[in-house]
Amino acid sequence: MDIDWTKLEAAARAAARLSYSPYSHYPVGAALLAEDGVIVTGCNIENASYGLTNCAERTAVFKAVSEGRRRFAALVIAGGTDTPAYPCGACRQVLSEFCAPGMPVHIVTLADNPAKTVSTTMSELLPFAFAL
Ligand code: THU
Repeated sequence: MDIDWTKLEAAARAAARLSYSPYSHYPVGAALLAEDGVIVTGCNIENASYGLTNCAERTAVFKAVSEGRRRFAALVIAGGTDTPAYPCGACRQVLSEFCAPGMPVHIVTLADNPAKTVSTTMSELLPFAFAL
């Protein structure tokens, strides 16, 4: 399917603006392109009990799956200023449950002067993923 990376990146940036991150002050947004063409976004949602924080990527996956979408074509993650917000290990594992190894992932910084973009794939992010 055709991937409109500009649109997907804009959605991830918009999601980062909705981040609830009063503790880290580190907003992250994610935009998942579902195979039906719908973009499902997520942001990080922190909690006073820090360990209960949900990352942007998992918010997006859980939203999508709970709305009946399990097949995805692309992902953009927007976060960080100098260094892009690479997805944490937990999110890589959760993403690997639903995203094919070859699925493209763009990771972009939030500062846009100019934004840094890392272009990668699920299998590069999580080789030898655990699966049952
Ligand atoms: N965070 C994400 O949302 N995604 C990642 O892949 C890495 C970390 C969030 C969690 C927390 O709210 C903040 O970034 C700082 O760790």
